[in-house]
Amino acid sequence: MSAKNQALAQITSAKDNNELEQIRIDLFGRSGKITSLLKRITEVPGENRQQVGILINDTKRTLESLIAEQKNSFKENAREWFDPTVPGIKPKIGHLHLVTQAITEISRVFEGIGFERVRYPEVEWDWFSFEALNFPENHPARDDWETFFVDAPPSPKYGPMILTPHTSSGQIREMIKVKTPPIRMINIAKCYRRQSDISHVPMFHQFEGLVVDENISIVNLKGTLDYFAKSFFGPERKTRLRPYHFQFTEPSFEIDISCGICNGKGCKMCKAGWLELGGSGMVHPNVLKACGIDPSKYSGFAFGWGVERTYMMKGGINIPDVRLLYSPDLRFLTQF
Ligand code: PHE
Repeated sequence: MSAKNQALAQITSAKDNNELEQIRIDLFGRSGKITSLLKRITEVPGENRQQVGILINDTKRTLESLIAEQKNSFKENAREWFDPTVPGIKPKIGHLHLVTQAITEISRVFEGIGFERVRYPEVEWDWFSFEALNFPENHPARDDWETFFVDAPPSPKYGPMILTPHTSSGQIREMIKVKTPPIRMINIAKCYRRQSDISHVPMFHQFEGLVVDENISIVNLKGTLDYFAKSFFGPERKTRLRPYHFQFTEPSFEIDISCGICNGKGCKMCKAGWLELGGSGMVHPNVLKACGIDPSKYSGFAFGWGVERTYMMKGGINIPDVRLLYSPDLRFLTQF
């Protein structure tokens, strides 16, 4: 098949498309070499005809695809030619995700009054999320947190491995780390709960404040919450505390914020004039004790609630399904 090798050499050394086209005609044109071979196939004696046919057709396919490849490579090379006067393609510039924007704004408010942002593990031990927060083992209140358990051997000291169902484990970690108050921390982190519907995602964010010092009272809690409400939502906003129950605070409160539309009078948007923000209270003495802090000397307050909801309340953003926040759909994300 030296004819085939010769053709292959010609094709690979062709300098341009014209030369390639000439080679193609010489091979496959009406009186091309391959074409005439195919025409003469009937002259081959019967028993060899099939084999010869296969051979010629194989050669034909190989040469044709090599010619096509060569033509393509000429095209690619042509693209390397660079015209500096052609207008460029402007790259799309992204922006921070809605939740990142919210976290930045929330930390800025608290950092302004001396809170320090802290970070603790998202994969946590039961002890830090429940036990040290004054939840007795098997207490039904633990069900409210719908915790994810990690399939790993439990710690002999701290119990099962879990994903943080709330940022309150950060209170424990911080008190154990600092040992002697004052403490003024803001823990903003991912939380995980077994829930998924239009108003819940299995992974969301909370921010948690903790202040521990001598002579800390409800007045300090109320002042801090009012400061946050005014700085974050606007100077005309107020907060109110409603009695509630949490295992780790005593007394405990739910925090409401006055409606931004009717200013607390009551309107179609809020009904009663107030919107629910989140939970808070005075740190339970058992929690201080679990962290080695003397409750007869120190007291503290804590608060915590969801980042996503708070930010949407601020912007009047109405998302039909919160799960969209964590979808990669740019049509949704680029709006914010
Ligand atoms: N951790 C509580 C929750 O997830 C909120 C809370 C934080 C309550 C701090 C009181 C004090 O609902």
